[in-house]
Amino acid sequence: MSTIKRLTRKDMFPFAVIGANAYVGMKVTSEEDIRKLGDRLWKMERIDPEINLYGLFRKGKLVGGMRMFDFTMRMFSTDILVGGLGFVAVDLLHKREHVCKELVEFYINHYAKKKSPMLALYPFRPDFYRKMGFGYGAKINQYRFKPGDLPKGASREHVVFVDHKDRQAIIDCYHRYVAKTHGMMKRNKAYLSFPLRPETKIAAYRKGKRIEGYIIFNFKSSSDENWLETEIQMQELIYENREALSELMTFLNSQADQVHTIRYITQDEFFHFLPSDPRTDSGKLIPPVGHECNTQGVGLMYRIIDTPGLFRALKNHNFNGRNCKLKITVRDSFYPKNAGSYLIHFVDGRPKMKTGNEYDVEIVMDVADYSSMVMGVVPYDKLYEYGQAEISDPAYLDTVTKIFTADKKPICVTQF
Ligand SMILES: CC(C)(COP(=O)(O)OP(=O)(O)OC[C@H]1O[C@@H](n2cnc3c(N)ncnc32)[C@H](O)[C@@H]1OP(=O)(O)O)[C@@H](O)C(=O)NCCC(=O)NCCS
Repeated sequence: MSTIKRLTRKDMFPFAVIGANAYVGMKVTSEEDIRKLGDRLWKMERIDPEINLYGLFRKGKLVGGMRMFDFTMRMFSTDILVGGLGFVAVDLLHKREHVCKELVEFYINHYAKKKSPMLALYPFRPDFYRKMGFGYGAKINQYRFKPGDLPKGASREHVVFVDHKDRQAIIDCYHRYVAKTHGMMKRNKAYLSFPLRPETKIAAYRKGKRIEGYIIFNFKSSSDENWLETEIQMQELIYENREALSELMTFLNSQADQVHTIRYITQDEFFHFLPSDPRTDSGKLIPPVGHECNTQGVGLMYRIIDTPGLFRALKNHNFNGRNCKLKITVRDSFYPKNAGSYLIHFVDGRPKMKTGNEYDVEIVMDVADYSSMVMGVVPYDKLYEYGQAEISDPAYLDTVTKIFTADKKPICVTQF
């Protein structure tokens, strides 16, 4: 018998112990470090009403917990509430006892009550959460290139270093970018309040008071044999126009004499078009002749929990001008309330939820792949080819694929 409830100040130490054991890679081992972790989790929860810590208790003892985040995500041209899940941690003595399953069920119900149509999380294992109905987001790419290979523009005169006191201008720039970018999430209050780490630097493209692009980065020594060899690790690159990008790239280019490599992790799948040499520094050749230019991984995952709510929110989005009366049948074994058939009539691309049984074509698929498809991550016809989706009339394959083809895949730089 479990009870799930909001964690209080006194739960922070036991929760941090569970978290420290679950996330060994964080290297939180001493009692002092565990206490600090608990203090930090509590501080963020207090500062930000959009972050909530919940724990699962059995026989009065905390055996697992999680953080939930109320995110505002740009979905095409609309803002929607997306429930984020992070820091899921289960007591090592209670693993494989459905603690996580019950936490995730609670999380889904929590956001269903809040009328959030979509959820998002970073998985410790994609297959574990896919089984629970979460679909893959856009792949993340790791690029490594030489600074001198970046384009050297005519100027870098607007590039300046900024710090914590310029944070509002940085966030304004970020939010203008969010407003134009599918998948991006607004910054929450905790992000605004926390000081930057001392090693973090921000180079910004500033015009007067306005920041129109920036790079958040840090230096890392890149060789045990040579302490002068340095790498730049770009944590975030945001730009509103090509002038800003050009000056920021020119700034990075000018570091070539001291910086050996720049590492950039991004969902931008086209970034290899920017440096003069697209190859990564691994020197690997993929047979027969494929020069490795980045490595890739599956990261953020999405889950639709309310189809009518989502398409009502997207009522002004144009799904590529198609006309189609579509029946979508979703399989959802983890959250059966969400399973079933939905009728959406697309008129010149605009969706309208319908009742009744009037449709041209029906598609059937699991909620995980359905979520990826609606986010514009995977085309419907690929899922059909792979045998992961069915269609009542294959003549409509192209129409259905076009409806859900997004101009751009979702981008998200929020870590949680
Ligand atoms: C990973 C971790 C959270 C798993 O927690 P756990 O409590 O051991 O996991 P659970 O027992 O709830 O296992 C999931 C259950 O959900 C079930 N499940 C998954 N999808 C299901 C579905 N669609 N329908 C029904 N059941 C489903 C699984 O089958 C499994 O049950 P089973 O073991 O009886 O087969 C835990 O091991 C941990 O804390 N790890 C370290 C930290 C970490 O990596 N956290 C995750 C960060 S995102």
